[in-house]
Amino acid sequence: MAKAVWHGFDTRADMVRALADKTGTALEAAVAARGVASWAVSGGSTPKPLFAALAAAPLPWPHIQVALVDERWVPRSHPSSNEALVWSDLLRGAASGAPFQAMKTAHGDPFTAAPAVNAHYSALPLPFDMVLLGLGPDGHTASLFPAAAGLEAALDPAGVALCAPIRAVQSNVTGQETLRMTLTLTALKTARAVTLMITGPDKKAVLQRALDTDTHLPVARVVRGLDTDVQIYWAP
Ligand code: 6PG
Repeated sequence: MAKAVWHGFDTRADMVRALADKTGTALEAAVAARGVASWAVSGGSTPKPLFAALAAAPLPWPHIQVALVDERWVPRSHPSSNEALVWSDLLRGAASGAPFQAMKTAHGDPFTAAPAVNAHYSALPLPFDMVLLGLGPDGHTASLFPAAAGLEAALDPAGVALCAPIRAVQSNVTGQETLRMTLTLTALKTARAVTLMITGPDKKAVLQRALDTDTHLPVARVVRGLDTDVQIYWAP
């Protein structure tokens, strides 16, 4: 059973600098070892400064396969699309040469599209060398929302799918339903390194509570379900 390893920083800039160095070094090492690196990234706002720092980094981008950890099931033109975020914030400059596997397909809702997305992800150069996760205020990580439809299938340790459809009601957006596609615990367990990037005291408190007492929260179930310790990068 994996545990959480905390890395605290005085400022967000210090955290981003350290995480960019760690990520770049790991990706370069993976390319040197097997000719390709496989990196799955979460969306949301937290990773934006990390993407900006890496977008210009002189890494072997043509050999770094970038993929999404999860996607809000909206068109790429939608302001909350994680695919659009990766294109706009990471895959520009030096990083524009990196191959990128998105998740959103044209087929209906994510419950219809899941087989096609799984086929795309099964063709990726797994295992993931690095997975970057975020944390929501309700204890979700990736798009594994508490009490979501699809959550138990996604967290099934015996599951074979790499990607899973999710239908959830977001607690911080009262009553609003969200459709997602997300990596499963099975996919996350392939990762050689898993980093959880959080900012702000509220998220630190949510994560500490999840790891200590509220172990039913998805982020706690993911940490417990992994074989690789989760490196938590935290700044105020
Ligand atoms: C998403 C993310 C999700 C994110 C958290 C935190 O698509 O929403 O993958 O898991 O990491 O919701 O989002 P912020 O970084 O915007 O707070």
